[in-house]
Amino acid sequence: MLVEGIGELVTNDPSHGPPLGIVHDAAVAIDGDRIVWTGPRARAPEGIPGPALDLDGRAALPGFVDAHTHLVFAGDRTEEFDARMRGVPYEAGGIRATVDATRAAPDEALVQGAHRLAGEALRSGTTTLEVKSGYGLTVEDEARLLTIAGAVGDEVTFLGAHVVPVECADDPDGYVDLVCGAMLDRCAPLAGWCDVFCDRGAFDAAQARRVLTAARDRGMGLRVHANQLEHGPGAQLAAELNAASADHLTYLRSEDREALAAANVVATLLPVADLSTRSPWPDARALLDAGVTVALATDCNPGTSFTTSMPIVVALAVTAMGMTPHEAVWSATAGGATSLRRTDVGRLTVGARADLIAIDGPSCVHLAYRPGVPLIRTVIRGGEVVVG
Ligand code: NIG
Ligand code: FE
Repeated sequence: MLVEGIGELVTNDPSHGPPLGIVHDAAVAIDGDRIVWTGPRARAPEGIPGPALDLDGRAALPGFVDAHTHLVFAGDRTEEFDARMRGVPYEAGGIRATVDATRAAPDEALVQGAHRLAGEALRSGTTTLEVKSGYGLTVEDEARLLTIAGAVGDEVTFLGAHVVPVECADDPDGYVDLVCGAMLDRCAPLAGWCDVFCDRGAFDAAQARRVLTAARDRGMGLRVHANQLEHGPGAQLAAELNAASADHLTYLRSEDREALAAANVVATLLPVADLSTRSPWPDARALLDAGVTVALATDCNPGTSFTTSMPIVVALAVTAMGMTPHEAVWSATAGGATSLRRTDVGRLTVGARADLIAIDGPSCVHLAYRPGVPLIRTVIRGGEVVVG
């Protein structure tokens, strides 16, 4: 298939000019599920078989890589959100309400809910999804959520250390023993990644370190929910353990930024979580200036960030967090891929998965310039036109 009529093509291929590798009046050739050629239309190879898709001058870019979601859950926290908007602060304890509802839900309800959200994400241009567990918090419930996560997502993350479940409230270290032992025994084969919520009301640095090192010993990659609620130890811990990603980073000091940069930990920022908890904005500019690689993600979950929209994430990162539109587009595509240590997505280069989206606008800057507008016109995932 030849995709042509692309007014502005973002390839994220620095050989077309860093960082976004923009090509004007471009075309993309796809064979099966892979990109086989990108460049100016005038130089496209002759005789590409299959249909042509004319984008009529629209901008096209790699599908979004949403590297942080909690899509598998049951229940609803509208009332908690409503109370928060009347002044009740967010605390990690709200997670337990979703744990109760999730444990009580049959598999089919969880599968249906996760598929509904994944479909919503796809229609807003997300072609790669990371999905976490974390609302089960027993050996069997975490395994159940990871199995469902694997059916809807590209990357699966074990988050047994999300909070201490209510039945273990008197013995948090006993719960950490369970996570490091029987829970990881059962869950490590189901997930490539392990994440821990290291923050006030969840796990302290010593507890988080135990879980993450146990996971690392089993060959899992590491991610950390860090510095969301206070100037905590999570970012430093992510650097100490060479985690792939430290996520949230709302409360950060310069020494935290330096540690992330030195250890090559991707900073995954989640602006809708800050928006929906009326928290301060993470300082994306300061992270970039310190040399940290920044990714952007939705954090889709029923407590702090009930969105699947990467376009709104890009818009907020630009308008509220100090990123340029081009930096934000890179972070929402190649940045997410980097945080997942993937080189086959988040870029439109030869050999990459053919995940391409087109927006109703002449430039990718429109993603920030036109917040809240449904701009995603075409979505191609793995070489198949799935929207448009
Ligand atoms: O990423 N911070 C921890 N976990 C989620 C919130 C989960 C919830 O409140 O249900 C987050 O914001
Ligand atoms: Fe999260």
